[in-house]
Amino acid sequence: MQNRFSYRHGYWSDVLDTGIEFGAFSDLVAKLKTESVFVITDCRVFTHYEKFLSKYPHWCLPEGEQAKTADVVSQVYEYLLMENTDRNTLLLGVGGGVVTDVTGFVASTYKRGMPFILVPTSLLAMTDAAIGGKNGINFRGYKNVIGCINQPALTYIDPVFLHTLSAEHYYNGLAEMLKTAFVLDESLLSDIENNVDAIHRRDEVILNRLLQKASCAKLKLVEADVSDKGIRHVLNFGHTLGHAVEMHDMILHGYAVAKGMAAALRMSVNKGYLSASDYGRCDKVMKALKLPGSIKMHDKLMPYIEKDKKRRQEKLHFVFLSTPGKALVEAVDLNELKKLMYAS
Ligand SMILES: NC(=O)c1ccc[n+]([C@@H]2O[C@H](COP(=O)([O-])OP(=O)(O)OC[C@H]3O[C@@H](n4cnc5c(N)ncnc54)[C@H](O)[C@@H]3O)[C@@H](O)[C@H]2O)c1
Repeated sequence: MQNRFSYRHGYWSDVLDTGIEFGAFSDLVAKLKTESVFVITDCRVFTHYEKFLSKYPHWCLPEGEQAKTADVVSQVYEYLLMENTDRNTLLLGVGGGVVTDVTGFVASTYKRGMPFILVPTSLLAMTDAAIGGKNGINFRGYKNVIGCINQPALTYIDPVFLHTLSAEHYYNGLAEMLKTAFVLDESLLSDIENNVDAIHRRDEVILNRLLQKASCAKLKLVEADVSDKGIRHVLNFGHTLGHAVEMHDMILHGYAVAKGMAAALRMSVNKGYLSASDYGRCDKVMKALKLPGSIKMHDKLMPYIEKDKKRRQEKLHFVFLSTPGKALVEAVDLNELKKLMYAS
């Protein structure tokens, strides 16, 4: 695949041919010289993959969302300073979306920017977080409010990492993969439908192919809207209600998005955008993947919806599905949206 983000630099230029590359992590490790690389990972991922990661100077973040803070980032800066790391060092982020978000942020800010490669190890990061160049941390309880858009030199995907991922995080990531299929790629949706058992078994060959389709679909969209100002908004499908449920019920992002997508699918039918048969198809695959279904709309979700980042005065940019593989974004009056949500 042609890549406009490829970056060539010193010792590691030979690994950078595409924006996303699939291969064995051990092959990447073999290509990267230890003296020019610094690894950022988290404690759990390090425990599983110590054999590879301990070859490099490294920093282990605490596990989970608690690592996306200014304090934790300061600790990484301090360690980089202590290690005399300079702008010629390559930062290698190996982990889930938390690690890839923090690595991209540190790489973009330390000494005014250093090159970075992301090796996503969770399904959510392989499908979504490690692609698109959005990097950031949380601040004062607000998610991802400090950050930047800066592309990694390379996103390197090896589905073998998925064997050690917990079931909870595996299905969490599947929701985001399915979202990509719904809004961007009907052939990916068919592939998922035809391989449900293999997906539950985590069949590596099938996952490799599905991930190639999903990641390339996202990268193509990102290339067309690098600064996230336009068509990239279709990726927010299921996210308006999803975010509200995520915050209110404190559940994992992917499960919340699945609930948000179930509601958005019904809302798309009620608006007359999606046919009943296409709705049936999408609903069936969500159930086959054992993703959570619908949301019971209630008033306590409204404050979160009203604060949605896609709101412009009294209208909110809501993503509907028109047919599998194609979405549309419409500015909907908040009152109308509320009625639609309660009716769907
Ligand atoms: N930048 C973006 O465009 C973007 C997009 C979507 C999500 N995100 C961010 O991604 C984060 C969520 O990502 P996540 O779901 O990967 O969470 P995460 O990074 O917390 O990983 C989930 C859990 O899985 C563990 N883990 C990861 N890979 C593993 C492996 N191979 N084997 C065993 N355990 C493994 C981690 O240690 C962690 O406990 C959120 O902070 C979200 O804001 C960013």
